Amino acid sequence: MSPSSRASIPRGAVRSFGARVLDNSEVKKDTYVLRFFPLAETLPPRPGQFYMVGVGTGLEPLLKRPFCMFDHEEGRVHILYRVRGRGTELLRRVRPGETLAVLGPLGNAYPLPPRGKTPVVAAGGTAIASVFPLIKHLKGKAAVIYGARTVEEMVMMEELEGIARRLVLCTEDGTCGSAAMVPGMLDEFGLGPEHFLYVCGPRGMARAVLRLAAERSVKGVVSLEEFMACGIGACMGCAVRTPGGYRRVCKEGPVFKLDGVVL
Ligand SMILES: Cc1cc2nc3c(=O)[nH]c(=O)nc-3n(C[C@H](O)[C@H](O)[C@H](O)COP(=O)(O)OP(=O)(O)OC[C@H]3O[C@@H](n4cnc5c(N)ncnc54)[C@H](O)[C@@H]3O)c2cc1C
Ligand code: FES
Repeated sequence: MSPSSRASIPRGAVRSFGARVLDNSEVKKDTYVLRFFPLAETLPPRPGQFYMVGVGTGLEPLLKRPFCMFDHEEGRVHILYRVRGRGTELLRRVRPGETLAVLGPLGNAYPLPPRGKTPVVAAGGTAIASVFPLIKHLKGKAAVIYGARTVEEMVMMEELEGIARRLVLCTEDGTCGSAAMVPGMLDEFGLGPEHFLYVCGPRGMARAVLRLAAERSVKGVVSLEEFMACGIGACMGCAVRTPGGYRRVCKEGPVFKLDGVVL
């Protein structure tokens, strides 16, 4: 029953386990942090990886839902989620002590920035959950441009202030930071070839940021969110276009090179 990270588990092996819920707390309206404790050996998650979480105790809904690793400590895994539909509404009702069926950690991780490049993170909405552990890992080195529709949807601002080299906030309605969107703020920030860019956010934002990065000859990676059924590469439900054909976000991703996807 050890929750530890054993070297005996091969990377890439699918790990399905029961997880004891420790805590499920609202951190902002409709946004929760759920902490769980794996009841089996698991691999330590790396920034960018995700879990498929069974959101109900019965068979309905059948499909697990994907959530990024938001943080982890001493074998405990944290996810940060926003309530959107039926699955996350059920997850909101989960109480400490309950057991969830979980699969993971899944997918690839964010690479470290190449030597000599300054990491810049562009995040929109709940996608901050995906890049948060990366920003933490980079320990005060990353400039972070974080945007949302309104202040009600912005989370972890104090924590980000403490771990980012520089934090630029923006909201569409101007209720926090500049009244602007992430691509515009990135432009104003002076994105250039000396930066290594990490992108995670809604499709429209990611598309605009990728266009800006291409114009400025900036290298980096983007993490994509697609609807997922299996999460392990078996159903092709999460395929996205790349210059080399279709690739599965759950298996070849979710992290792709900026010029490695067609959005
Ligand atoms: C790899 C990956 C990592 C993710 N990490 C997180 C995370 O850390 N925190 C978090 O809050 N969410 C994350 N998501 C999105 C999350 O999986 C969905 O919000 C969740 O599955 C919605 O389930 P539901 O049953 O509540 O909503 P549904 O009833 O299925 O849908 C409700 C609404 O949410 C939208 N939606 C559902 N799934 C997705 C999706 N995959 N991408 C974009 N929009 C979606 C639908 O368009 C619909 O408008 C991630 C998705 C992926 C693919
Ligand atoms: S969700 Fe089934 S292949 Fe990705």
